[in-house]
Amino acid sequence: MFIFNIGYSFYMEILDFDLIILGSGIAGLTAAIHATNASKGQIKIAIVTKLHAMRSHSVSAEGGISGVLYPDETHDSTELHAYDTIKGSDYLADQDAVELLVKNAPTEVRFFDHIGVSWNRDDKSKIQQRAFGGMSIPRTAFAADKTGFFMMRALYDEVSNMKNISIFHEHFAYNLLIDKNKFVGLSVLDLATGSSSIFKAKTAIVATGGASRLYSFTTTAHSTTGDGIALVYKAGLPLKDMEFVQFHPTALVPNGILITEAARGEGGYLLNSKGERFMEKYAKSKMELAPRDIVSRAIITEMKAGNGFKHEESGLGYVNLDLRHLGEKTINERLPMIKEIAQKSIDLDPIKDLLPIRPAAHFTMGGINTDIFGRVLSDENKTPVNGLWAIGECGCVSVHGSNRLGSNSLSQCSVWGRLAGNAVAKYLELNKSFINISKDVVSSEERTIVELLDRKGNTNPYFIKSELQKTMDENLYVYRNKEDMLKARRHIADLKNAFKDIYIQDKGKVFNTNLRDVLEIENLLELAEAVTICAINRKESRGAHAVVEYPNRDDTNWLKHTVIYKTNNGTGISYSPVKITSWKPEPRVY
Ligand code: FUM
Repeated sequence: MFIFNIGYSFYMEILDFDLIILGSGIAGLTAAIHATNASKGQIKIAIVTKLHAMRSHSVSAEGGISGVLYPDETHDSTELHAYDTIKGSDYLADQDAVELLVKNAPTEVRFFDHIGVSWNRDDKSKIQQRAFGGMSIPRTAFAADKTGFFMMRALYDEVSNMKNISIFHEHFAYNLLIDKNKFVGLSVLDLATGSSSIFKAKTAIVATGGASRLYSFTTTAHSTTGDGIALVYKAGLPLKDMEFVQFHPTALVPNGILITEAARGEGGYLLNSKGERFMEKYAKSKMELAPRDIVSRAIITEMKAGNGFKHEESGLGYVNLDLRHLGEKTINERLPMIKEIAQKSIDLDPIKDLLPIRPAAHFTMGGINTDIFGRVLSDENKTPVNGLWAIGECGCVSVHGSNRLGSNSLSQCSVWGRLAGNAVAKYLELNKSFINISKDVVSSEERTIVELLDRKGNTNPYFIKSELQKTMDENLYVYRNKEDMLKARRHIADLKNAFKDIYIQDKGKVFNTNLRDVLEIENLLELAEAVTICAINRKESRGAHAVVEYPNRDDTNWLKHTVIYKTNNGTGISYSPVKITSWKPEPRVY
């Protein structure tokens, strides 16, 4: 460890590691385990997380993880899983990445079995699998409706027993240091003490999750502010397909808490105000188990046609989810958490009551531009940044295209967690030296936080956050139109300007959540701008991006990924081809 006196009243530590994993959800912890195993425990790893690791948003995953487990008995196959995923993606997924996902997903489900996840099993002890939207065959393994919690608990136990891993809970990374296209380190604020350090390392894996808190009505935790995506973007590296934000069809009204798709997988119905199972009009064969983009569009269309309800207190429109016919036993055994959530938060019991639901921001399909191995790319020529990976929801390996199928995210996190962990171990066998960080860089990193705290502005940062979320809720929701998107862009530009004039009321050092919130808000502003610009530019409707003026998918002009990056004067956009292997784009009928 080195300590620099940088001329302020305190010193900045520099800590050295072989690998930093930024983020502590399923992707990050899985990567830590595999990097450790592949190196026989020789790699010194820091897991840096702004929360306590067990509060990572992965713990909230409910419905399950996809993977073909018993092909002979179920007549399922990895080819069919790939086809479902690609069709579900509205043909924007890179098909080589999808093939990697489906080939490896079964291994991951069994890996979690070995480390102690209590999968639901049948009377022959086989892992049970339930139906999920857009999947031709039930292939989602689950642990009741608390799958993420059980997976996280097993991973956390493993990681806690690995001597080469240190977990830095409640540490916020605020800058990514890159030198000559090589990862060098991170500037990190220890929330407990308010002191900043440089975490220097030969490699890093960014695994910080998504950015659904761009919206106020979301299924995700307040912590899902896309920090890793913003960190990479602010360091000058490109993001991909940011216009594609997934809206999960069934968020509870009025609080947005997720009512798992498994509720429909178990046989739940969606009913409009006339009592009709309206999905018949939109997806005759799949009904409520059509992919999420289609179900969300259908719900909004019904509400716009006057076939919805209005929640009195919040004013939110909604339709109903009917689980009553599933019966007490199924609900208690397979959906106990959503029963508890509905009872405790809105005093309704799905065994006898209808549940009010509407679509809510749920998943970031876009993210940090990576290659198929999860290596972060630095430019349009697909040059990887040495020593830097991005995996899980924050990385756009293009496996979900413009619409993710439910339960494919847990497999994505596990598959690329293993791939990246193994790849880092191999990389470190050949790349043993650190890059030095100059004194100038160290002192400028320390000043970032000091100067932020010293600002004498007049604008309340929480006002900026609520305005930002409101503009995203109103203008970049399930259906978008040109005028609203342009309005959002102007408003976000104004908010970015206003952010220059913010003040931080709390000047304290110990758990200064006011300071942390401001760092998050800055990240949200960057990402909101990226989502909006990418959305304005894509002149078609595909998956989660439904534009009123361009109602159809346009493969002639738009079968391509959007790449956005920062320039000296703002932002630049370019496009890159979609990788097609075996499945030619075809009309998407369910
Ligand atoms: O509905 C759910 O349980 C969510 C699953 C997912 O997003 O994969």
